[in-house]
Amino acid sequence: MADRDEHELVSGKATGKAESAFELTLRPQNLADYIGQTKIKHELNIYIKAAKEREEALDHVLLYGPPGLGKTTLAMVITNELGVNIKTTSGPAIEKPGDLVALLNELKPGDVLFIDEIHRLPKVVEEMLYSAMEDYYIDIVIGEGPTAHPVHFPLPPFTLIGATTRAGMLSAPLRDRFGIVEHMSYYNQDELTRIIFRSAGIFQTKIEDEGAHELALRSRGTPRIANRLLKRVRDFAQVAGKGSIDLASVRQALKLLQIDDQGLDEIDRKLLLTMINYYHGGPVGLKTIAANIGEEKSTIEEMYEPYLLQIGYLTRTARGRMVTEAAYKHLGLEYPTK
Ligand SMILES: Nc1ncnc2c1ncn2[C@@H]1O[C@H](COP(=O)(O)OP(=O)(O)O)[C@@H](O)[C@H]1O
Ligand SMILES: [Mg+2]
Repeated sequence: MADRDEHELVSGKATGKAESAFELTLRPQNLADYIGQTKIKHELNIYIKAAKEREEALDHVLLYGPPGLGKTTLAMVITNELGVNIKTTSGPAIEKPGDLVALLNELKPGDVLFIDEIHRLPKVVEEMLYSAMEDYYIDIVIGEGPTAHPVHFPLPPFTLIGATTRAGMLSAPLRDRFGIVEHMSYYNQDELTRIIFRSAGIFQTKIEDEGAHELALRSRGTPRIANRLLKRVRDFAQVAGKGSIDLASVRQALKLLQIDDQGLDEIDRKLLLTMINYYHGGPVGLKTIAANIGEEKSTIEEMYEPYLLQIGYLTRTARGRMVTEAAYKHLGLEYPTK
């Protein structure tokens, strides 16, 4: 169990109170402080300016991409740049139409409604959103049986920001109602290094260039993981009596956490090794992989697979996933000639 907790903390799944407070302090507040995602920032900057000049609500925004890449942070940044208020909720939290009405009812002109995990909205709620997004009204039925009557409920112009790890899970009618659709990509070395230096500054912790680069290299292109690892490495350096985080501290701490030089953790390696040892490297279906390594199919799909695909350790074929030659090499195994 200890292993599992450790793993969840590092891979960014834990959402305990302490963790969210810590994420909150590290969150950039405006576009200028938001590192990376250059194309998205550039576009948003223009759309936000234009909306403000026209004194209109910003068009609805859909942000999609793997966990920890800064979707929630960006939603807050957009809100700050617009100078409006935000109401935050998530797909599974809105159970019935009444919940949505209550949220919409609190919005003032130009405000942002942020729905995280928007692919998990119940169908009836999603359908109510269509008219809310398109024409700023909802029709609801009040009462039951013979006394039931429809009520037309006008809304102020508002901006819906939706976040999802699974754009493919969104229905076409919902997706089509977002005027601005942005795909968040993994961060490069340089961007992650800047994020690590920024976070270290907020922590009032010194980190050497080499230490920061090494940490960036092993963060799976993901700011949340970079910050989590930084926190761990900081503890490690402190206990070792070091005044600043150097390369050796990073290496030792990550060894302890079983994070390898590509940033892969135990589960990543288990996934690849299972495919290699039991399925000759594939092709093998996602369901089978999930059952074999004891993880949810959706967890693999959202958290593990995207990065392994990104670095070219997995490929997707019509018949399932396959382990690539690069992955065999990384694991120190010989690639079978088939
Ligand atoms: N572009 C960025 N610049 C600096 N820090 C970032 C950036 N994106 C994300 N972070 C950090 O990573 C953490 C996770 O980001 P978050 O917005 O919660 O990701 P998501 O909602 O996509 O899962 C945040 O607390 C923030 O500190
Ligand atoms: Mg989020």
